[in-house]
Amino acid sequence: MTKTILRALKGEVLPTPPIWMMRQAGRYLPEYRETRAKAGDFLSLCYTPDLAAEVTLQPIRRYGFDAAILFADILLLPQALGPKLWFETGEGPRMETTDTPGQVANLKPTEAIHETLAPVYETVRILARELPAETTLIGFAGAPWTVATYMIAGRGSKDQGAAHALKAHDRPTFQALIDKITEATIEYLSAQIDAGAEVVKLFDSWAGSLKGQDFKDFAEAPAQKIIAALKARHPGIPVIAFPREAGQGYIGFAHRTGADCVAIDNSVSPEWAAANVQIDGCVQGNLAPEHMVTGGQALIAATRHVVKAFSKGPHIFNLGHGITPDAHPDNVQLMIDTIRGT
Ligand code: CP3
Repeated sequence: MTKTILRALKGEVLPTPPIWMMRQAGRYLPEYRETRAKAGDFLSLCYTPDLAAEVTLQPIRRYGFDAAILFADILLLPQALGPKLWFETGEGPRMETTDTPGQVANLKPTEAIHETLAPVYETVRILARELPAETTLIGFAGAPWTVATYMIAGRGSKDQGAAHALKAHDRPTFQALIDKITEATIEYLSAQIDAGAEVVKLFDSWAGSLKGQDFKDFAEAPAQKIIAALKARHPGIPVIAFPREAGQGYIGFAHRTGADCVAIDNSVSPEWAAANVQIDGCVQGNLAPEHMVTGGQALIAATRHVVKAFSKGPHIFNLGHGITPDAHPDNVQLMIDTIRGT
C-alpha cells in the first residue's frame, strides 16, 4: 500500500490526514538534547550521519509520525558555497556576509557543494534503509530568497532589511546571488532524491516580506525553476512549497510554481486556505505551534478545527511553523490522538 503522505500529495482525500511536524526533531525532546550533547554542537550534529539519522528517527519512534524530515539546516547549502557559518548559543545563526559583486562571483562552483554536503546525503541513505515501511522520507532546502536573506545580512533579521536594500540598490548582484542559490538548490535537492528522499520541501520562511512583483520574481520564479528542473530529472517527485506568510500570495502558488502541495502558516484561517488554496490540490498545515506549549482543551479544539476545515480535500496535518523548544512532548501526543481519534 502506498504511503499515506504520497497518497495525499497525489490528491487523495484520506479519512484521517497523515501527520508530521516542522522541527519534529528538536530541543523539546529530551532524547534530542541528549544526542545533541553527544555531538557537541548543532553543526557537528548535522554533519555526523549516524547522529543526524538518530535524531531524525527519534520522533518517529516516539510518536509514529507519517513522515520523517531529514535532520539538517537550510544554511548548510550556503556554507557549502564558501561563506563561514556558525551558531551563537541562544542567538541563532551567523554567516560571513555575501553582498558585493566580488563576493557573489567568488562563491564556489556549484559542483563543489557535494564535497561539504556528502554527510547529508549519507544521512538520507541511512534513513532510507532504517525508516519503517509506512514512513515517508522528506528532504528539504531553503528557498533562494530566504537563504539569500541570511547570506546578505550574515544573520537572521526580523525585516530582512539588508536583502531588501541590496535588491533595491544593486539589482544585478542580488539577481546573480538568487540565480546562484537556485542552481545550487537544484543540485542539492537532486542529490537528496538520488540518496533516497521521496518528497522534497522548499522552506521560504521570509516569503511574506516580498510584495507584488518582488513576490513573483523572488518567491515564485525561483521555486518554479527548481521544481521544473527536479521534475525533469526525477519524474513524479512530489514537492511541497512553503512560502510562509504569503497571505494572498498563497492563492494559485501551486499552479504557478508546479508544487504538488502548499504548506500554510497559521496567520491565515484553515477555512480561508481550504476555500482559496486547497481548491488547487493538497495543502499542509496549519495548527498554531503555541498549542504545543499550552495544551489542554484549547489544543483539542484547535486541532479538530484544522482537521474539519481541510476534510473535503487532500491534506497533510502539520503546524503553521516549527515546534518551539518550550513545547511539552505530551501535547504532541494529545494532538496526534485527537487527529487519529485514539
Ligand atoms: O524540521 C526539522 O525537524 C528538520 C530540520 C530543520 C532544522 N532547521 C533544524 C534546526 C529544518 C527543516 C530547518 C529549517 C530552517 N533552518 C529554516 C526554515 C524553517 C523555519 O524555521 O522558518 C530556517 C530559517 C533555518 C535557520 C536556522 N537554523 C535558525 C534561524 C536557527 C536558530 C533558531 C533556533 O531555533 O535556535 C537554526 C537552528 C536549528 N535548525 C535548530 C534545529 C533543530 C536548533 C539548533 C539547536 O539544537 O540548538
